[in-house]
Amino acid sequence: MPTKDFSFAHHAERFNDHISASIPGYLELADLCVRLAGRFIQEDSSVIDLGCTTGRLLAAVHERYSGRRKDVSYVGLDVEAQFRRQWATYVSHDLRFEVRDARQFKPDRPISLAMSIFTLQFLKPSDKMPLLQRLYDSMLPGGALLIAEKTLASSSMLQDALTFPYYDTKLRNGFSSKQVLDKERSLRGQMTLWERGKLEDNLRRVGFAEVECVFGHFPFFCYVAVK
Ligand SMILES: C[S@@+](CC[C@H](N)C(=O)[O-])C[C@H]1O[C@@H](n2cnc3c(N)ncnc32)[C@H](O)[C@@H]1O
Repeated sequence: MPTKDFSFAHHAERFNDHISASIPGYLELADLCVRLAGRFIQEDSSVIDLGCTTGRLLAAVHERYSGRRKDVSYVGLDVEAQFRRQWATYVSHDLRFEVRDARQFKPDRPISLAMSIFTLQFLKPSDKMPLLQRLYDSMLPGGALLIAEKTLASSSMLQDALTFPYYDTKLRNGFSSKQVLDKERSLRGQMTLWERGKLEDNLRRVGFAEVECVFGHFPFFCYVAVK
């Protein structure tokens, strides 16, 4: 039976619950991003969240740091217009959201902090490096990219060994076996995953001098990459 492609529009209303149940440790990761953000946000810069979905993470960063540095624009981008209703609750003089493709975005001020939390994995392989390069080139020295990605294991044996423990976690989080399988089928062909080593290498290739893994539950890992 054909399965429909996974749609963020379809999940928009309850996306925060969906991502917390789907990604083990997601709320801790979001909290870590908020805590790390303060180390990198600089005066006269932009803080951007690529693939911001409901805007909750960017709003939490904004709530914690707005006004602490002068002239900072907080900008959330997502290609999916269905998140607009949720953005409306957060918008303020220095926080805005745009329905926009991250590949076309040009920041009005240099970036001090970019977040890409499980977003790059949805881009075509040929679009990933140009976007990383553009983020790096638009960034102030000392600025950082917080990037979380679903990744592949470093060998087929480990991919096999680690996949079922991940499914078990989803079952424990309340998904049925059918929902787990349907989600995998609906995502087939939509994600372009890298191994962790390739993600790290590619962050260094575009120029990031310091790259550190700050969160991980296979297959989900987050890195901080500093210019
Ligand atoms: C897994 S979700 C990201 C989760 C989100 N960062 C969070 O923490 O809630 C991926 C998001 O990326 C968005 N997206 C995919 N391709 C995009 C692109 N080229 N530009 C901007 N957003 C994109 C999707 O619409 C989706 O909302």
